[in-house]
Amino acid sequence: MNPLVRKLLFGVEGLVYGPAYAGLQHLIRSPEPIDPQAAWDLIVGDKPAVYEFVCGHWPLRPLRWPLLHAKMRQDHVLGIAAHYDVSNEFFELFLDKKYMFYTCADFPTGTETLDEAQQIKADFILNLIDPQPGQKILELGCGWGPMLKRIYEHTGEKENLYGLTLSKEQVAYNEQHNGFNVKFDDFISHEYDPESYDTIYSIGAWEHVRPNEIRPLAKKLYAAIKPGGKLVKHFFCRVPDHLFATAICSQIFFPGSMGSPYRSQVKAFEDAGFRITHRSIHDYRPTLRAWFDNLVANRREALELVDVQTYNRYLTFFPVSWRYFNDGLGMLVRWVMEKPA
Ligand SMILES: C[S@@+](CC[C@H](N)C(=O)[O-])C[C@H]1O[C@@H](n2cnc3c(N)ncnc32)[C@H](O)[C@@H]1O
Repeated sequence: MNPLVRKLLFGVEGLVYGPAYAGLQHLIRSPEPIDPQAAWDLIVGDKPAVYEFVCGHWPLRPLRWPLLHAKMRQDHVLGIAAHYDVSNEFFELFLDKKYMFYTCADFPTGTETLDEAQQIKADFILNLIDPQPGQKILELGCGWGPMLKRIYEHTGEKENLYGLTLSKEQVAYNEQHNGFNVKFDDFISHEYDPESYDTIYSIGAWEHVRPNEIRPLAKKLYAAIKPGGKLVKHFFCRVPDHLFATAICSQIFFPGSMGSPYRSQVKAFEDAGFRITHRSIHDYRPTLRAWFDNLVANRREALELVDVQTYNRYLTFFPVSWRYFNDGLGMLVRWVMEKPA
């Protein structure tokens, strides 16, 4: 990009979207791969109070909803493709080798490798799902199929395992490597047969569901689960009710997605009829740091697969997310929700 255009965009975006959004975009549009340590320190480091105040109050009130409204009307497939259909080989460079989870792992002692931590998380979630022989199980937003793989390792049954994703690259990966019943479809608008699944679960996909979609989807999923069945949900949510600056900045990485506050999610699922029988909170930060370190270590290979701006976008995404959790703005939660028999 022409350096003058880059500077001009910085000014315009600063006024419209605010300094945090403009600063991140400016960094990402750098013509060179950004320096990892400098980027990490810049993003997670303490800032002057006045800067934080301005960031927290931007975009200006009359612009807030109009700016988000346009994004919240776009088809989900556009946002998902923008983030996930980059290159499967690119994701392989920084995710764990065995499963390819693109979600928070568990590091109980802090000394685990990423692969060990993803195994611990997979076992934890397997325990929550507790799959029994012959049960029909569906994953909403199944990614590259890591949890379907873990369930298959446990049950040895493939034909009862289903997955939905809006990433064409992930569907192709599944056909090539896994052979589960994975379909390209939007789990929000998907027509579910009534009482057809023993368990539905989602790991890190609920973050893409917009606030106005949560209540109708909770009701649909309740209807799709057999009496006595369950919904297992691993997701992160906002702690404060309103966070416009964060919602705007997240459009850089997940265009068209917007997280919801914790308490509105509890209400939506309980109102749909579910009983929440397990709640645990997990720390996303070590996983984000591990992905960041892996991407940096594989910089040369990454730049053979994607352009500099895409590399810069992911390198920026990990510290931005790390800071979100470190500042207590977001919380990673696992729930089991039961439908009475
Ligand atoms: C962060 S990835 C998590 C993937 C996987 N569950 C894992 O643990 O690695 C989010 C996944 O949700 C999917 N997804 C998001 N919104 C979706 C929607 N509305 N319909 C179908 N899939 C969706 C994406 O395609 C992607 O596969």
